[in-house]
Amino acid sequence: MYVCLCEAVTDHQIRALAQEGCTSMRQLGEQTGAGRCCGRCVPMARGILREYQESLNMDLLQTLAQPAA
Ligand code: FES
Repeated sequence: MYVCLCEAVTDHQIRALAQEGCTSMRQLGEQTGAGRCCGRCVPMARGILREYQESLNMDLLQTLAQPAA
């Protein structure tokens, strides 16, 4: 779905950029233009970036919680 209508940026694009290391709205804006026009997409785009980071943190915690083999 489109998150940023002004720049035609989708949630898939945002997740792909997050996988490549994009962690902030500043970086996302530099790479896609999202958030740099009307700004209405910022809360949702920021939420997608945060959700991705939280999923990485959960994976890391689960890995650390496993007993050493
Ligand atoms: S909807 Fe993203 S800047 Fe307008």
